[in-house]
Formats: sequence, structure tokens, C-alpha cells
Amino acid sequence: MSEHDKTAIHEEYLRLTPGSAKLMERAAKSMPRGLTRTLSSFAPYPVVFERGRGATLVDVDGNRYIDLFSNGMSLMHGHAYGPIEDGLRAALPRGTAWPGTSDAQVEFAELLCRRVPAAEQVRFANTGTEATMLAVKLARHVTQRQLIIKAWHGYHGSYDDLEVGLQGQGEVAGRVALATFGDLDSYAAALERHAGEVAAIIVEPVQYTGVVTPPPEGFLPALRELAREAGVLFVLDDCLMFRLAEGGSAERFGLDADITCLGKWIGGGLPVGVVAGSAELMSIFDLDPERPLYHGGSFNGNLLGMIAGTIAVRDLTAADIARIEGQGEKLRGELAGASETTGVPLRTSGVGSAFGLYVLDGADGEIDWPASRLLHLAAVNRGLYYGVGGEFGLCTALTDLEIAQAGAALRCALADVAEAVVDRV
Ligand SMILES: Cc1ncc(COP(=O)(O)O)c(C=O)c1O
Repeated sequence: MSEHDKTAIHEEYLRLTPGSAKLMERAAKSMPRGLTRTLSSFAPYPVVFERGRGATLVDVDGNRYIDLFSNGMSLMHGHAYGPIEDGLRAALPRGTAWPGTSDAQVEFAELLCRRVPAAEQVRFANTGTEATMLAVKLARHVTQRQLIIKAWHGYHGSYDDLEVGLQGQGEVAGRVALATFGDLDSYAAALERHAGEVAAIIVEPVQYTGVVTPPPEGFLPALRELAREAGVLFVLDDCLMFRLAEGGSAERFGLDADITCLGKWIGGGLPVGVVAGSAELMSIFDLDPERPLYHGGSFNGNLLGMIAGTIAVRDLTAADIARIEGQGEKLRGELAGASETTGVPLRTSGVGSAFGLYVLDGADGEIDWPASRLLHLAAVNRGLYYGVGGEFGLCTALTDLEIAQAGAALRCALADVAEAVVDRV
């Protein structure tokens, strides 16, 4: 199937979303292609949302969607989560950003130091991108070496050095070397090729961009040890996967990172980034008289983000994690069954509540991206929202009934795709 085929699924989408079409046309006049975020777009135009509550999104045409994406896994408890709404309402009259430390910062910092393994201190920033950028800056400063090793296709935010290995961008001499996620030898080879130059290895514990890829058994602890033996810092980018245990993926996979980066849902729906590490490592910020590391940011630790983040982290319990992981498994099971009955070959991959869904080419078993995107559009028509690249990230607001409804809707969407493909041949 080609990217440009128009199907009954497209026609249905146009019929359901005239308000989105109109607003996207208007948006394109004041924002490039009407967007302000590359990955949220899809053809013929993306849905324009109007509001969200719990696990429900509503678009400008009044269509309702079960949200299985949680804004790219940045909403752990769904939209307009009651305790966060109340906390923000109570805080608003106090103002939003002050030029110094606040009680809210201290409370959140203490909570994070209790929850994040190997973290004795934290530093606040505003996004996951800022957190990983700061981790790189910290690693380079402490080691006085420049090179960072990261994985091909690993995503760590919108920062040049960490976009190496994405969209065909190769290594940048002296700044970033590439290895293959899950292949320990490729990291060892990169360390050997660049002996004496490497400041840090940065890794996403479950590679999420492109095709969701869980780590092979034992890979992450072995990579951590490799970094230790080579004398380079081990940076765990847990922006997405801090959801995998109360202490995030360090707890889940048995790791003790030198630097942990947090973002996404850590701000409770507001933009917050966090860099966490040992007190010794973190003492370099401002304090080390020999080599102080400058780190500014007018909104670092702003009041609303601290309050929302504290509530989001406090309210994610091991029981919640187990429940949404079970829901993820159930949905993946439903998909496998639907694949069998509709004859559309599918692959799902991931860990618990975070996984990817792909339609496969019946002939070679490779991912059929146009068909995968068609399934996404069909699912939107059927009242579901997940990531354009097939990404699912479940939130704690999802009820078992919504999961059952989502399973049924996905089955219908798959049948729509099966029909559209048959129509073409
Ligand atoms: C693993 C990972 N790190 C960092 C980031 C960057 O976070 P932000 O979009 O808040 O800048 C992302 C965003 O998707 C991410 O997935």
C-alpha cells in the first residue's frame, strides 16, 4: 500500500473532522504547517483537540477519544487530574515564578531523592530536552572530556548533539559517537575507538523512538558496568520510563546511574525537567570554586511545575504501575486476537504500559509504515488516540471498561484497514 492511497478511512476522517480541517488551515498561516511540534502531525491533517479529562480527549468537532498516548507519556494520571487541578488552583494566588528556592522545590526535591535510586540531589530544568542537555554539560564539565556515546535512533530531546543517530544523522567527530541499542559489543567498540575521549554513555532504558525496543535481558546492567570500567559516566534518560517502577527503570532493571534525567510526566502535566545524581557529582553546580558549572533558567523549579510534579510522583504507586501494566498486556492480547481474525499481521513490542503497535507487510514481515499510519487514522475514526508512530503509553486514569472499549475499537479499526487493503487489490 502506498503513502498516497486515499481510502474510505480517509473519507471518513474528513467527514468527522471538518472543524480540525478549518483550524489547521488557519493555523498554517501563523505557524509553519500549522504545527509547533514535529511529531504530532499526520495526514491529511492532525486532530485539533479542545479539552481532556481523565483518559478522554475531545476535539473541536466534539468527537471523543480514549487517550492511549497520554501526550507522549507526559501525563501519568490523565488529563485534568483532580488532585493536581486542586493543587494548582490553591497555588495560583501565590504567583507562578520566584527568583529563589521555594518550599515547593524542597518538597519535590526531597521526594525525588527518596524515589530515584542513587540520587542524593536534584537540579530542576523545564523539559526533558533541558535535562538531557544539562546532563551532557555536567558530564563534559566533570570529566573534562567531550565525547558522548548514544544509540542509533535513541531519542533524548530536541538538542543537536543528542539528535545524532536520528533521521540519518551520523556521528559528529569529537562530540558524539554512536552504538546500537541492545548490542553491548557496539558500546565496547565505541569506547575502544575513542579511548580517553568519552565523557558519558547516555541511554534510554527502553528505546522508544522508531520501533519500541525493550532492552535484552541483562543489557542495561552490563552497559552500566562497562561505563564504570571505562571510567565514563552512565546517564540514564528516564524521561519516559520512570513509569516502570516507583523508582523508575533504575529500580526495574537494577541500575545505579551516575546521572538520571527525568522529564515528561514528572511535571504532572506541566513542563519540568530534572537531573539527579550523587551529592558529590551535583556539587559542581555553582558551588565548586575551582570549576563552577553555570546553569541558569528563569523558570527552573517554578511553583506550578513543582506542585503538579510532587502530586504526580506521590500518587504513582507500585499498585498503579501493576494495574496499568496488566491493562497494557490485555490490550496487546486483544490486538493479537484481532490480528488473527482480520488477517492483518501485527507486531507489538514494549514493556507493560508502554508499547508500540505496527502493521507488518504480509510478504516479508517488515513493518509496513503506510499501513501502520492507516491503522492510526482508522483508530482515530473509531474514537481512539495513540501516537502517530504507533506509540502507546497508558495512564492511571484508564478504567478497565475503557480498555475493553479500546480493544473493541481497535478490532474495528483493523477490520477497516483489512477492507481498505482489499479494496486496493
Ligand atoms: C527519552 C526522552 N528523553 C528526552 C525527551 C525530551 O523531552 P521534552 O520533549 O520534554 O523536551 C523525550 C521526549 O520525547 C524522550 O522521549
